[in-house]
Amino acid sequence: MKKKNKSNRFSLKEVLKKDPIVCLTAYTAPIASLVDNFADVILVGDSLGPVLYGFKTTREVNMEMMIRHAKCVVENTKKSIIVVDMPYGSYESSKHDALENAKKIISSTGAMAVKLEGGEKISETISFLTKNKIKVMGHLGLLPQTLYGKPKVYGKNEKEKKKIFEDLRSLEKSGVFSVVIECTVKSLVDNLINSTQIPLIGIGASEKCKGQIIVTEDILGMTNFSSKFSKKYFDFLKKAQKPIEHFVKDVKNKHYPKKTQCY
Ligand code: KIV
Repeated sequence: MKKKNKSNRFSLKEVLKKDPIVCLTAYTAPIASLVDNFADVILVGDSLGPVLYGFKTTREVNMEMMIRHAKCVVENTKKSIIVVDMPYGSYESSKHDALENAKKIISSTGAMAVKLEGGEKISETISFLTKNKIKVMGHLGLLPQTLYGKPKVYGKNEKEKKKIFEDLRSLEKSGVFSVVIECTVKSLVDNLINSTQIPLIGIGASEKCKGQIIVTEDILGMTNFSSKFSKKYFDFLKKAQKPIEHFVKDVKNKHYPKKTQCY
């Protein structure tokens, strides 16, 4: 039997004790209720921009979109912890704006925590949020919100290697409860794991991370995303062709609806 807190959801303390921690993304009601059966943490990621809306980058996602999708995910889940990405432009200008926006996300959706991209540069802001009782997940390595053009693997040169240790140290001090580490050289991630108490949640990182996160639509084959770390467990886009063709044929041949399907 899974232990639940009063609201029936896992508490953060319970989730952090799990090994490994399983994190999946969700943006919509059907995917949220599906993954809630399996995930410890559900991230309402700003990847919803490219995945759902076909945006070129996550930078086009705004507060209104994140709130709308996060509310839907909270309402359609019972046990997982819900973390929401703070969108580009909602936390960089000042720590006061960041707090106002984080509070808005939490209070209008019922989510439990927010995620922000970056290290030292935003650690003062994250400290301000955590001091004001906002639970924060960090995000290091490849940072999609600052990405121009092609994604690249982080940590291949000495400068990036040194920087990520400093960034992790400052996130640790700012009170994050975990850090997503994306698309980063495995040997570097393994060294980071040995240097910190903070649970690292990997995506294109290392099997040694305390948890793994993935975009659900990517593993279901609902997107055309492909990278070295991605793995398709289902080919939705391909498998959906046949049933759609079947429906179209039925309509054209006047086989649908049947009399029994009419009122
Ligand atoms: O937006 C997102 O889905 C993410 C994950 C890929 C970590 O940040």
